Amino acid sequence: SYLRHVDSRKLMPNGAGHIPHLKAVILGEALASEEDDLVLPSKEFSDQANVHSPEQYMEMYKRSIEDPDGFWSEIASQFYWKQKWGEKVCDENFDVRDGKIKIEWFKGGITNVCYNCLDRNIEAGLGDKVALYWEGNEPGLDGSLTYSQLLNQVCQVANYLKDIGVKKGDAVIVYLPMINELPITMLACARIGAVHSVVFAGFSAESLAQRITDCKPKAVITCNAVRRGTKPILLKDIVDAAINDSAKDGVSVDVCLVYDNPVALKREDTKWTQGRDIWWQDVIPKYPSTCPVEWVDAEDPLFLLYTSGSTGKPKGVLHTTGGYMVYTATTFKYAFDYKPSDIYWCTADCGWITGHSYVTYGPLLNGATVLVYEGAPNYPDAGRCWDIVDKYKVSIFYTAPTLVRSLMRDGEAYVTRYSRKSLRVLGSVGEPINPSAWRWFYNVVGDSRCPISDTWWQTETGGFMITPLPGAWAQKPGSATFPFFGIQPVIVDEKGVEIDGECSGYLCIKKSWPGAFRTLYGDHERYETTYFKPFAGYYFSGDGCRRDKDGYHWLTGRVDDVINVSGHRIGTAEVESALVSHPQCAEAAVVGVEHEVKGQGIYAFVTLVDSVPYSEDLRKDLILTVRKQIGAFAAPDKIHWAPGLPKTRSGKIMRRILRKIAARQLDELGDTSTLADPNVVKQLIELSDS
Ligand code: PRX
Repeated sequence: SYLRHVDSRKLMPNGAGHIPHLKAVILGEALASEEDDLVLPSKEFSDQANVHSPEQYMEMYKRSIEDPDGFWSEIASQFYWKQKWGEKVCDENFDVRDGKIKIEWFKGGITNVCYNCLDRNIEAGLGDKVALYWEGNEPGLDGSLTYSQLLNQVCQVANYLKDIGVKKGDAVIVYLPMINELPITMLACARIGAVHSVVFAGFSAESLAQRITDCKPKAVITCNAVRRGTKPILLKDIVDAAINDSAKDGVSVDVCLVYDNPVALKREDTKWTQGRDIWWQDVIPKYPSTCPVEWVDAEDPLFLLYTSGSTGKPKGVLHTTGGYMVYTATTFKYAFDYKPSDIYWCTADCGWITGHSYVTYGPLLNGATVLVYEGAPNYPDAGRCWDIVDKYKVSIFYTAPTLVRSLMRDGEAYVTRYSRKSLRVLGSVGEPINPSAWRWFYNVVGDSRCPISDTWWQTETGGFMITPLPGAWAQKPGSATFPFFGIQPVIVDEKGVEIDGECSGYLCIKKSWPGAFRTLYGDHERYETTYFKPFAGYYFSGDGCRRDKDGYHWLTGRVDDVINVSGHRIGTAEVESALVSHPQCAEAAVVGVEHEVKGQGIYAFVTLVDSVPYSEDLRKDLILTVRKQIGAFAAPDKIHWAPGLPKTRSGKIMRRILRKIAARQLDELGDTSTLADPNVVKQLIELSDS
């Protein structure tokens, strides 16, 4: 079976070829570089996989590129369409030089995503299957909803929204924690054709106000308070402040629906605005549990999700109905090798795209059982994730490298005390996963049994773009591997010229795919300028990427995070990966800092493995590690000891803050309200001169 992999690698796209060093891997010889580190799926896994060989992938991939209309319409036909799409499956202008950018899929097709998630699956006999398990922050607090129960609740909310005047095309802002009511609300909006805009319930009042002002919602849906870990967060207070703020900009919110969460705050202690605020529990149960579907065009908007750009106000990424539905469902099925018996858990919050596509829509469209977890992944201790995995027999576990690294720091004992034998596929998203974290995830969490789907994608792409298909081919720790069906990644140089074979450069995509965003809400010009003008003819991802000799893709981080040291372009992710490969380094974040001689210097924030003391020797050793792995030019100029790194509650490192600390621009730190732990910043500043 090894030979099978070797030979078929000749089929890999983008110049992937024969792998002479595979012999070394099989014989267990030392590897020349990380590129040569191959992890093969077991025969047992491949044999049962949805895509079980490189040949099968290649055949499907080829068809998806050569006949995208045929490929995607066949898949789309598995969903319910009130009316089939018109003549064209896809109608696009992807080149700014030919006029306005336009992407349309299945135009003229009439459907509804909520219907396809719920009613269609219930009709197919899944009514009594658990759709959502809910695990509360406090161990012992939990619940579940079958597909039929979920539909009933969605209908009640949909009927309420209709009753207060929410119509097709109206925006609804959702500011809820990870309780079932969050996906319920999303689905209720989808059912009536309203456009939800979920705002991560860790954003500050100002950020929320900005979003309210931009999309002028008919209602805001929130919760009085939530506990994550031991910390109560008064969400309703934040919403009040945000609504007041946007009123100053002339945008008024007439209805604020508030879910009562007595575990976190008593009703009577919740601040209240009569006439505007209404308790969820007082009204929703009174509404009928059936609600007719609003049939919409495939190109009608499904949701708006704000994401930050490198400059300016947040961008309202707009996704539409038909293409997004087909794409999230398909990517979910293949990248996680989904089977109806799986129990699926994605640790992302629905406030981010991952929670839209891979907590709510993708899994439910497949009739999957999804776990929604309210709390912090390390509460009450670092073993909580594996406790949950064992409790629900989770088989697919999808998370972010940052969580993997922080759990790695807490030590293996928290993992190995749980069985985890239900796990069969692991997933990673959000940032490049460094090979040492990959290895730990694979060996310790997955007992060297579960393939890891390192999924590269973005808010803008709607679904996975470059991702392993577990079972189909060998993985390389740290590489997102190959494109998903229908995706043509190209690597271009700074002039926008495509580079073939082994290379690195800017990652762009040629031609549209069903899940692509269609515009930035209210600012189509910014959409074109940011994504389609930098390299005409392509969608520009903003990421750097290396393609190795075997055609595997290695994401090197945002190009806006690239550091240029003496004319050498260095991806911050590369330096970080080198640092964390040091056994005593738990986590690292690297930023560029102005340097008199070199233009930019490398400034590294380093978190050490528990209880290792800071020392001059260790500092030198870390620098040496980077010199060894990348080259002398990449050696950090400064190592800044960091007890913790400033992260958003979704686990993203806030480099903006690190750059300011590195540059000692301490009065320009900006909004730190979305940090999981704002104290981290204070500690870092105190340690600045150590
Ligand atoms: O830089 C890439 C990184 O996250 C960016 C997209 O961020 P966002 O829109 O917030 O979506 C995150 C969840 C999809 C990308 O431009 N990124 C995401 N996944 C990966 C990644 N970088 C490397 N490997 C990944 N698997």
